[in-house]
Amino acid sequence: MSAPHRATRVVICCGSGGVGKTTASAALALKWSLQGMKVAVLTIDPARRLADSLSIGEIGNSAVSVPIERLDPSCSGRLDAMMLDAKATFDELVRRFAPTDRAASRILGNRYYQFASTRLGGSHEYMAMERLYELWHSGEYDVVVLDTPPTRHALDFLRAPDRMASLMDEGVLRWLVMPASRSGWRALELGSEAVSSVLKKVMGEGTVAEIAEFFEVFRDLWDGFRARSLEVQALLRQQDTVFLLISSPAPSAREDAIYFLERLAELQLPFGGFVVNRTVAEPLPLPELPTRPGELALSDAQWQACLDSIVSATGQRRALSLDHERSIGALRAAGPAGAPCWRVPEQERDLHDLQGLAGIGSDLPELSQLRPS
Ligand SMILES: Nc1ncnc2c1ncn2[C@@H]1O[C@H](COP(=O)(O)OP(=O)(O)O)[C@@H](O)[C@H]1O
Ligand SMILES: [Mg+2]
Repeated sequence: MSAPHRATRVVICCGSGGVGKTTASAALALKWSLQGMKVAVLTIDPARRLADSLSIGEIGNSAVSVPIERLDPSCSGRLDAMMLDAKATFDELVRRFAPTDRAASRILGNRYYQFASTRLGGSHEYMAMERLYELWHSGEYDVVVLDTPPTRHALDFLRAPDRMASLMDEGVLRWLVMPASRSGWRALELGSEAVSSVLKKVMGEGTVAEIAEFFEVFRDLWDGFRARSLEVQALLRQQDTVFLLISSPAPSAREDAIYFLERLAELQLPFGGFVVNRTVAEPLPLPELPTRPGELALSDAQWQACLDSIVSATGQRRALSLDHERSIGALRAAGPAGAPCWRVPEQERDLHDLQGLAGIGSDLPELSQLRPS
């Protein structure tokens, strides 16, 4: 793997959908840029207002500078944000690896390619990895933070580079390329009902020649794709990369996080710790409750009802915080011994602007704390 000019850290935020991966990625990137680092954050489908506050509303793949000087005019850091455009990334790769401009045009104009590049399982995840690789390789950043796709198929993301490599080797692609010959087409027709029926549904009949052409031309790009995919795999396992597992105290998110943890271990990917988002802290003990002030226009019964509801709300909050602590305990018990865990409290309002994101910075790790455990 050809290394960039200086060590660029890579932090990958993963976890199930809705737990706060995009929020945590943006908040980490913002925190470190405000400390003076040059940071890139690649987000996936940020909420509209978050995209606006990061100024990436309409931009997509190309890096835009986030106006962090609004928070700290003397800040020497830099934050570039971008949103993954999987299709544009794939197109760029095709242009890069095609032996000639004509070969690139044939692929880019091919309808099977247009289908496969956006809808085949894992292509989104693979392109996220590709963009990560490009940002890392540019050597422009101290750290690159990657948000991950809101995929229910966690493995698609974690295995994407592996999958692409084996796809290129002897997997589906190499098998599918056979359709360039007539007997191969019979194999496709007979052998994979699922593949052919999906293709026919999407593309209609009579586009067989186009598919064959795609695989024929794509063959020339294999070596490039394969080599790149192996480089991406190496990047995911290098010593400056860590995976942060984002979760919430909810049992379903915790179970997903444990599943991710097992996959990370299985794939020997470097785990850097947990971020448990939206936690509720234990309330302070209630002071001795006052008797009803004489001037208050409430009956004794009404006053008592007010006190009862305060006691009950505090009790509920305490029960919830205990529940969260238990959940966090179960999560940590599933991880490697001593793995760090950061808690981000539930905020009163959605975290959609720079100020809000900066507000949770102190709950999140320092970059120096993120080492594989
Ligand atoms: N600690 C928090 N307190 C309050 N709201 C939060 C918190 N973290 C995230 N959110 C909100 O939860 C929603 C989902 O977060 P998001 O980062 O988009 O999740 P994911 O990327 O994992 O799908 C967003 O509307 C976000 O503003
Ligand atoms: Mg997200």
